[in-house]
Amino acid sequence: MDIKLGKVLKRFTLDFALDMASLLVRAILTIAVVGLLFGQDAAFWLRRGSRRPRPRPQPRCPDPTAVLPGAQTTWDDTFTFMCPDFQVIRRIRSAYCNTARDRVWRFDCESIPGVSVFHELFWSGWVNNYGGIMNYQCPFNAIITGFKSQHNDGREDRRWNVRCSKVYDMVTFNNVLSNVTNELGLPGDYNVSDGFYLRGMHSYHDNDYGDRRYRYDTCLISLP
Ligand SMILES: *[C@@H]1O[C@H](CO)[C@@H](O)[C@H](O)[C@H]1NC(C)=O
Ligand SMILES: *[C@@H]1O[C@H](CO)[C@@H](O)[C@H](O)[C@H]1NC(C)=O
Repeated sequence: MDIKLGKVLKRFTLDFALDMASLLVRAILTIAVVGLLFGQDAAFWLRRGSRRPRPRPQPRCPDPTAVLPGAQTTWDDTFTFMCPDFQVIRRIRSAYCNTARDRVWRFDCESIPGVSVFHELFWSGWVNNYGGIMNYQCPFNAIITGFKSQHNDGREDRRWNVRCSKVYDMVTFNNVLSNVTNELGLPGDYNVSDGFYLRGMHSYHDNDYGDRRYRYDTCLISLP
């Protein structure tokens, strides 16, 4: 009898212990799951609570040709422009967009009376550092027939590389430096004066606008 009771008790205790253990495991699991959910929830709400107000979406820049008919470049992009064979830069137009803090450009070219060949042609290399002064004239009596340019989003500036061309024994003289041809943030339009040719470009950078004011250097030429 004693033995039987003992067995029963032992069995009961064991079952009870097992039940308790499984209950405990389930309880722990439940707490863990709830904790996980609530924890995520709490983190989510905390994040929401401390989140800074979202900046208002900036308007995108318009299509370049909408602000500058015939624009040949796009906002913030690298470009290379070269006049057709034996032509030189005649007119330079640009338009600014505040969102890009950049200009788009349109260059027009024309031929030089009596010139159907250039004997020499070279690229200047970068004529300004980002943020730096630009003060460039084609050397060796050459005149400007193209541009390369790269935009840096960090500095909000362009650097330029100028293409210079000349007829053998051509001479440039009577240099004239224009006044600034654009206000910061406003469009630019510059015509090379009749009979003159473009030989240089000058500008300085403004940090507030991420823009430059450009001046152009022109000259007369005499052909051999
Ligand atoms: C150059 O332009 C500025 C305005 O941008 C004007 O005040 C100044 O008189 C001009 N200088 C010359 C030499 O035309
Ligand atoms: C440049 O020349 C064109 C005509 O060829 C003229 O319509 C335009 O107004 C001129 N731009 C400036 C800034 O003088």
